[in-house]
Amino acid sequence: MIIAIDGPAASGKGTIGKRLAAHYDLRHLDTGLLYRAVAKAVLDSGAKPDDTQAAIAAAKALDPSRFDEAALKSAAVGEAASYVSAIPEVRAALVGFQREFAARAPGAVLDGRDIGTVICPDADVKIFVTAAPEVRAKRRAAEYRAAGKDGDEATVLADIRKRDERDSSRSASPLKQADDAVLLDTTNLDVEGSVAAAVRIVESCLRH
Ligand code: C5P
Repeated sequence: MIIAIDGPAASGKGTIGKRLAAHYDLRHLDTGLLYRAVAKAVLDSGAKPDDTQAAIAAAKALDPSRFDEAALKSAAVGEAASYVSAIPEVRAALVGFQREFAARAPGAVLDGRDIGTVICPDADVKIFVTAAPEVRAKRRAAEYRAAGKDGDEATVLADIRKRDERDSSRSASPLKQADDAVLLDTTNLDVEGSVAAAVRIVESCLRH
């Protein structure tokens, strides 16, 4: 079984993806980490995030088996990721890894921006997770503070709005709900409520 989860930054898709994978005994891939790793490699090399040639080279050289997740989760890397991810050649370099990951038995949960639309258009279940920007900013700011980083909510909200706009308006695989995806709005749900709602969506898709 392949479950595709898409949605904007801090919508809850990562947490839901992890929990669905555990619930159904599937492997899980947070595809945002791939773009974050490309962005971090570009920044580490001293290049700018919109340096197309540096980003393409970093994407081609990427080794997805060796990620330092904590280092990739910073606001600066997330921001830079939304620049490199708009480059078609960067996306093309990462498609094969994602599709192979999804195809391996017993199946997988992938979360990102274009899983249901581009990476796994034939996924058994597609969920588009969303939440009000203010609620997403509150959650992300709390995560930053828990990790000992700066978590000013107004700054995080402004970053989230900019990132949503860039991710939705780019021409290469924009953030978009697939026609056959089920919408899950987590604005008024906590983690347990969101996971329970996602399980109900999966069960309903499997029955039909
Ligand atoms: O999900 P996360 O916030 O880690 O993603 C970081 C950035 O990577 C996103 O803002 C988006 O620009 C990009 N991304 C993407 N396609 C995906 C996953 C992430 O373009 N499938």
